[in-house]
Amino acid sequence: MRYPAMATKQKRTHPAIKHAAVKIRRAKSSDAARIAVLCGQLGYPAKPAEITQRLRRIKPPSQHAVLVAESPERRVIGWLHVSVSPLIEVELRAEVNGLVVADDERSRGTGALLLRAAEHWARSRGCKSMSVRSNVIRERAHQFYLRHGNEHYKTQKAFRKSI
Ligand SMILES: CC(C)(COP(=O)(O)OP(=O)(O)OC[C@H]1O[C@@H](n2cnc3c(N)ncnc32)[C@H](O)[C@@H]1OP(=O)(O)O)[C@@H](O)C(=O)NCCC(=O)NCCS
Repeated sequence: MRYPAMATKQKRTHPAIKHAAVKIRRAKSSDAARIAVLCGQLGYPAKPAEITQRLRRIKPPSQHAVLVAESPERRVIGWLHVSVSPLIEVELRAEVNGLVVADDERSRGTGALLLRAAEHWARSRGCKSMSVRSNVIRERAHQFYLRHGNEHYKTQKAFRKSI
């Protein structure tokens, strides 16, 4: 699948940018080690073998897309998982399940590229909206989502139990 966001996009205001092209593509099993590193930066440490297994389980591709951002040096510098699960209470809606950009690559437009590619995928699956949940401590990420047209529509508590 081709994404319109595959073209170069950088924040013009950022002095460190040299118009390098970042490519957005589907994740491959060979990306597992880099995805694991980035999971650690997101606060969810994982081993490459665990990521390999999780990537295998994330299916079908009609309901899930794990996208990676690849630098011109072919280094994976970010990933995003978006999925769509039909629900009773709302129209078909996509959800961003995870998003992270390498900590030495932030504020250069890569997150925006991944988000745009996810929106494109979600539209292609028939979704009219896409949502994302973000921990209350991630204040900068909240600014990022607001800037990209998301509205803060609800605040929740999350519960879990070991079973
Ligand atoms: C949120 C995130 C994915 C955005 O990716 P990005 O490539 O930095 O995004 P962009 O360059 O398109 O936009 C930059 C904006 O993202 C926001 N941002 C959020 N967290 C940031 C961080 N730790 N460092 C820099 N910018 C961050 C800021 O609003 C920033 O704007 P600024 O450059 O004017 O300060 C990325 O910063 C990240 O991985 N953060 C840590 C993990 C996280 O919070 N993930 C979201 C979970 S819901």
